[in-house]
Amino acid sequence: MSVKTTRIAHLSDLHLLEPHPDGSRSYGFDVRFVSLGRKLDARERMRKVTRALQAARRAGVDHVVVSGDLTETGTARQFEAVAEVFHGSGIAPSDVTMVPGNHDAYTSPDAWQKALEGPLREYAPTSAHGPGAVVERPNFCIMPLDVACHQPVTRSSGELSDDNAEALERRLRDPAFSRKAIVVVQHHPPHPHKVPAWQWIDGLRGWARMMKLLEEHGDVQLLHGHLHYTVNRVVVGGRDRIFGAPAVVSEKEDTIRVRLYEVRDGLLESAGLIAA
Ligand SMILES: [Fe+2]
Repeated sequence: MSVKTTRIAHLSDLHLLEPHPDGSRSYGFDVRFVSLGRKLDARERMRKVTRALQAARRAGVDHVVVSGDLTETGTARQFEAVAEVFHGSGIAPSDVTMVPGNHDAYTSPDAWQKALEGPLREYAPTSAHGPGAVVERPNFCIMPLDVACHQPVTRSSGELSDDNAEALERRLRDPAFSRKAIVVVQHHPPHPHKVPAWQWIDGLRGWARMMKLLEEHGDVQLLHGHLHYTVNRVVVGGRDRIFGAPAVVSEKEDTIRVRLYEVRDGLLESAGLIAA
């Protein structure tokens, strides 16, 4: 008897916009500033995410993780665009885990919570709805974290809050999860920038606490976004345990890549990228 391999797809940095009847000139300064270098084509961005989700479905994934920057500036209408794309994908909301990124908090500090109570409410139980959030499945569990914070568009930092860190520490000590592949998901990578000024602008406050947790728990993997490119990193030697996915918004529409992982013997392993 063959046993089905458990697969997880990882999408990141969708930067969805609300479709605007008047085209790109109608977006405000904040959207044009944070989207510098990216075409302001809302429909094209939505099509890219749709194609990525279709590829994940074709690959027979058991779960989809989205590691933040779902929207460009976190407006209500942008979150409605996220809901429209995901609801149209045919993937059950219970099979999707979303976390917010810095872009999702530019408009207001409570935009993510409002989205989880509004257009994304069907995704809330399996997404970063608060400290200690966990998605339990037979052989893996996902611990989604909200490290986004409200700040001016000139900054792109994140923060691992004490509440989130303490709740995660309790989860990782819980023997109920010890036989499963544990996957922490957050938007920012858990590494510091080499230049202190850049760390202040773009880094994750509390990164050292997360790295310490990863050192102490050698069976935990972390998925992140933010960098917009593929990352495979070790923690202190050994196998890769920190993984970053390419940004869907930066992919060419006809060659979108989706990152895959497989769960084996209580661990998460990279299974490469598939083309959408
Ligand atoms: Fe991003």
